[in-house]
Amino acid sequence: MTYLRNAWYVAMWAETLDADGPLVSRTLLDEDMVLFRRPDGGIAALEDVCPHRFAPLHMGKLVEDGRNIRCPYHGLEFDASGTCVRNPHGDRIPPCRVRTFPAVEKHTLIWVWMGVSQPDLSLIPDYSFLDPDSGYQISKRDHVTMRSNYRLVANNLLDLSHAAYLHEGILAYPESVRAEISVREEGNYVYVERNRTNVKPALLPDLLFRGDGQPVDVMTVMRWSAPCHLMNDNMTFPVGGRIEEGAGLYGAHILTPVTETSTLYHFAAARRGVPFEGDEQTAAEVRKKMSELRRIAFEEQDEPIVEAQQRYLLKHPEAKPVLLKIDTGPARCNRILDKLISAETQHEQ
Ligand code: FES
Ligand SMILES: [Fe+2]
Repeated sequence: MTYLRNAWYVAMWAETLDADGPLVSRTLLDEDMVLFRRPDGGIAALEDVCPHRFAPLHMGKLVEDGRNIRCPYHGLEFDASGTCVRNPHGDRIPPCRVRTFPAVEKHTLIWVWMGVSQPDLSLIPDYSFLDPDSGYQISKRDHVTMRSNYRLVANNLLDLSHAAYLHEGILAYPESVRAEISVREEGNYVYVERNRTNVKPALLPDLLFRGDGQPVDVMTVMRWSAPCHLMNDNMTFPVGGRIEEGAGLYGAHILTPVTETSTLYHFAAARRGVPFEGDEQTAAEVRKKMSELRRIAFEEQDEPIVEAQQRYLLKHPEAKPVLLKIDTGPARCNRILDKLISAETQHEQ
């Protein structure tokens, strides 16, 4: 009842598979898997266990020009469909197979379908700003693992009022925490919007916009889609002016439950808005700074809080939060996710 199974989850940035490959192991939704790139460029994802005596396949190697994975223990070989295709100990190939997961590469990420029904490619959210030909200045494609349930991390992202306190100076200031908040649903997406006017710009928004520290208007929209894929659209613009006159970023925040109490969090951002004034060297410095500031915010500021929340909830599972107006977005998305999971559970029974 805790995970939505018929959904895509991100296992890694595509470049990680190529850099750390050929065999990369991951745990998604408590399932251990090994991933590799097939000779045709597609992605293979197999359960990370050999059916013979349960050795982890990621400790083996790719053989037959990358077509088969060889178990490290006694050498059985399996192809990308999980079929056993070679037994070095005799002529009979045992009729065993390794479970496989549908996996695709999209928007520079590797997505794995964790359900039993037919994978639906249209359920992969739009992160096209990350595509290589998008034309955007993209920050580092980064990730952290947080020792916290994915819902706590999602709730953190769906209520960005915390930025004023937890990310004081980097993303916002306490004195400008008040915002107009609205929540709307469109198709598969929920949008949580916060608008603030005439506020002092914090370090990151100022860096991306004018760099003069003068008051600005700020629009922040967090897009959520089930189960836990988020995208932030953040714009800083002249007081009383139009959004198109400003600059900001698109931010990908993609969560993958590893276990009940740990979450793999992939993030990257693209600067957007009025054309960047400066040469390629300045643009590279802005990209670097954007990567650093976001990493600090997520790893050094968000992570300790969501991990502490998780520790408390493990000790006090009956605890219920006090709900404020700022919790409208998280509450709505939690409700939708509960409904989807419960519909899936009923369907399977
Ligand atoms: S455990 Fe894999 S071949 Fe024996
Ligand atoms: Fe945060």
